[in-house]
Amino acid sequence: MTEINQINLAILFSGNGSNMQNLIESLHNETFIDSAKNKQKITIALTLCNNKDAYGIKRLSAFADIPCVIIEHKAFADRLSFDKEMIKHIKKYKIDLCVLAGFMRILTPYFINNTKAINIHPSLLPAHKGANAIKDTFNSNDKQGGVSIHWVSNELDSGEIIMQQAISIESSDTLQSFESKIHALEYELYPNAVLKALNLTTL
Ligand code: GRF
Repeated sequence: MTEINQINLAILFSGNGSNMQNLIESLHNETFIDSAKNKQKITIALTLCNNKDAYGIKRLSAFADIPCVIIEHKAFADRLSFDKEMIKHIKKYKIDLCVLAGFMRILTPYFINNTKAINIHPSLLPAHKGANAIKDTFNSNDKQGGVSIHWVSNELDSGEIIMQQAISIESSDTLQSFESKIHALEYELYPNAVLKALNLTTL
């Protein structure tokens, strides 16, 4: 019998963690196939959080087999020493891909040069980069918003797009209803974008 290869993912988060939970429920310990028709099992081998008070840490108590390493960025003198500590854990757990899910730290070239990473952003990039993308989209004159998943590069919210989908902003939308639609779209897209980034398809 041929052995099934294992792909180790790390999920990085800072707060609520709903995308992280959705990724775990959709992908953890599931088997997919690569372009050569070989089976590949995805394991969420590590979660990393920079905020000890993040609600996502509580969500993880439902997944006892997934380690959560909390590295408070405030404890480090600068971004580089924080990123070096994160990379230490990423190497220790033999991570193939880092999946950023609401991870609110700017990463240094050191991080980017030492691992592969993808990120989800709640706008139709390149429009509305930055931390308030949903509100900025809603308050703009744009007729539509959306969700983008992209490779992490040296420039914030700017790497190559892996997957992107638009939704229209209806005149009946409030910020809250628009935000709910964006999050629903995130949950639909992100697991599929992870598979696309890894060149995997469902069995
Ligand atoms: C999401 O909207 C994501 O696109 C953005 O931060 C938010 C994180 O939400 N980068 P959650 O922590 O996954 O609930």
